[in-house]
Amino acid sequence: MTNYQLGIFNEEGNIFNVSEFEVTSSDVSTIKKAIRKAVKPVDETIEIVVSFGKTLLEKISPNHLPDKLKSFETIKGKNGHEMPSNQSDLYFRIIGGDASLVLDQTIKIQEALDGISEVVLSENGFKYKDCRDLTGFVDGSANPKEEKKYLAALIPEGEKGEGGTYVFHQKWIHNLQKFNELPVGVQEKVIGRTKVDSIELEGDDMPVDSHVSRTDAKHDGVAMKIWRRSFPFGSAKEKGLMFITYTCDPFRVDIQLDRMLGNTEDGHSDQIMNYSTAVSGAYSFAPSTLELATIL
Ligand code: HEM
Ligand code: MG
Repeated sequence: MTNYQLGIFNEEGNIFNVSEFEVTSSDVSTIKKAIRKAVKPVDETIEIVVSFGKTLLEKISPNHLPDKLKSFETIKGKNGHEMPSNQSDLYFRIIGGDASLVLDQTIKIQEALDGISEVVLSENGFKYKDCRDLTGFVDGSANPKEEKKYLAALIPEGEKGEGGTYVFHQKWIHNLQKFNELPVGVQEKVIGRTKVDSIELEGDDMPVDSHVSRTDAKHDGVAMKIWRRSFPFGSAKEKGLMFITYTCDPFRVDIQLDRMLGNTEDGHSDQIMNYSTAVSGAYSFAPSTLELATIL
């Protein structure tokens, strides 16, 4: 399966944008034309992952709806935390190496969709230090390697949407000051890895409510692996992580979110949620390039 959208597995890019739109037009051919225009790269170094929310895909191309695509709904956690939905229609992740070109592409997409949509969210980010989240911890260490990333991310052959992927976007706002007040040893217990070298804590050192313990999940003996491509963002106003993941089955993400929220038998919620707040959440489907050409 080699016809996935290339940006999904891009690891070289270090400048990013995610933009989310609610489509207000009901004219299918106008919508398709606008999306075709939006996804034309402004430069050969730019990669774009385009994905569709369920409601929009049902409207513009119902035959291409993969079985497991659903709208994300707000989840309330047993311990008072919440993950809100901002589910809408159209999702773009832009990856590049030059901030000017990533911005040019962002504007191109926005202008192509102007008049038929509203911007729901648009966030810029970049690779921070050696792939670290703003907490200072390396993000992505346990991502599946080599061939395994394709198995984790891509919808398998024979399933509707094969070669495509289910996408989950979730914007998080950090209370960095609160996190940074913790001694490093305590921060490491929140995450479940060491700070400098990103070594997973072992045995009794690993708390059940560390982020790694909550997200390193198995179901019926199958490891719920996902392919993460999150990026940090920051300004004097807001700091956080644009969490982005690609998965062969959204159930894998659902399980991890439930485990983070404490909505599982053991009832432990993720310590990370004491320092960071989810402010958006949405599922979409990024079809293979072959299927995308048919949809559009
Ligand atoms: C691991 C940060 C949200 C899924 C990690 C690690 C860090 C991190 C530092 C350890 C290094 C690594 O393996 O990448 C964050 C931050 C988040 C966040 C700062 C938001 C505030 C999420 C969410 C999910 C998730 C919402 C799931 C939907 C995972 C997974 C792992 C991981 C699957 C690897 C677990 C393993 O198998 O060891 N994250 N994460 N993370 N995170 Fe997150
Ligand atoms: Mg592990």
